[in-house]
Amino acid sequence: MTPFDSPPVPPSGLPYTKEVADATAALYKKVERVIPEIEWPVHAPYVHAINRLKAEKNAVILAHNYMTPEIFHCVGDLVGDSLALARMAAETEADVIVMAGVHFMAETAKMLSPEKTVVIPDVRAGCSLAESITAEDVRLMRRRYPDAPVVTYVNTSAEVKAESDICCTSANATKIVESLGAKRVIFLPDEHLGRHVASQTDVEIILWRGACEVHERFTAEQIRDYVKPFGDIAVLAHPECPQDVLAEANYVGSTAGMIDYVGNRKPGRVLLVTECSMSDNVAAEHPDIEFVRPCNLCPHMKRITLPKILTALQTLEPRVEIDPAVAARGRQAVENMLAVR
Ligand code: 13P
Ligand code: SF4
Repeated sequence: MTPFDSPPVPPSGLPYTKEVADATAALYKKVERVIPEIEWPVHAPYVHAINRLKAEKNAVILAHNYMTPEIFHCVGDLVGDSLALARMAAETEADVIVMAGVHFMAETAKMLSPEKTVVIPDVRAGCSLAESITAEDVRLMRRRYPDAPVVTYVNTSAEVKAESDICCTSANATKIVESLGAKRVIFLPDEHLGRHVASQTDVEIILWRGACEVHERFTAEQIRDYVKPFGDIAVLAHPECPQDVLAEANYVGSTAGMIDYVGNRKPGRVLLVTECSMSDNVAAEHPDIEFVRPCNLCPHMKRITLPKILTALQTLEPRVEIDPAVAARGRQAVENMLAVR
């Protein structure tokens, strides 16, 4: 960073002092490809304050791959896809978990670690999939198809998980469905992920009409338009996208699956058909790869910001609390998933 005589005070109100600049210089190096230098004095004081407070409170920040780079790379302690976050929430020794992600992820963390304080920096960080189904809907589906076990995507409320036999994520959905040994399963609530699973297995999949508002906006024509000028480009798509979009992809997988693909195969040019911040986070680590970015933002993930994370750490609010009876049944469905290796 450029040297300065008097510390500039960004609009945040937290001053960008020499101490802050020095303490965060190594972190800025990690994100310099995706965060312009002029923006760093706004983020750095929060990054510094959060990292100090975290240590004082024995807190960890779990950060989903869709967090913005200053959160993902600079304050996230444990980062990953929904499956990895669930595993890490179950294993962490910290007293406090701050979920830099959406509400269902914080609920999953609380179910797996009921003795810990779990906070989410903005309780309004929801999910269109979680909104698409209620516990009563699950009971209705069970009555209609009594022979079929219920597989529920983790992108659901604790009440919905509590009505389910087992959970899944985008990383393990087909494996979970096949682990049950059933001829047919009820798959809730993502229709597109369900159709993708159906294309990978002989098990009959009974669908629900839920969708991710971010991924369902992609179209096959849009992907072809992105690819046309290049020809040679690896297209990686999240299975929450519609089937015709997935048909344009070289690889379909969870956010962590896409990151692994880029790291292992190192394509010269890549198109990530998923939420915007993911491309920034991966691009920050791969200076030699060109990223072509269709940008669909998740408005729920974007509610999580550095100032809100700092406030959550200072106040240990808003806390995630779940009715103990619901939590116990929901936990069982998540643990059933984690037991499938
Ligand atoms: P994964 O990180 O599990 O692939 O999920 C993507 C997602 O949409 C989470 O909200
Ligand atoms: Fe939900 Fe889609 Fe946002 Fe993920 S990206 S939190 S599935 S709305």
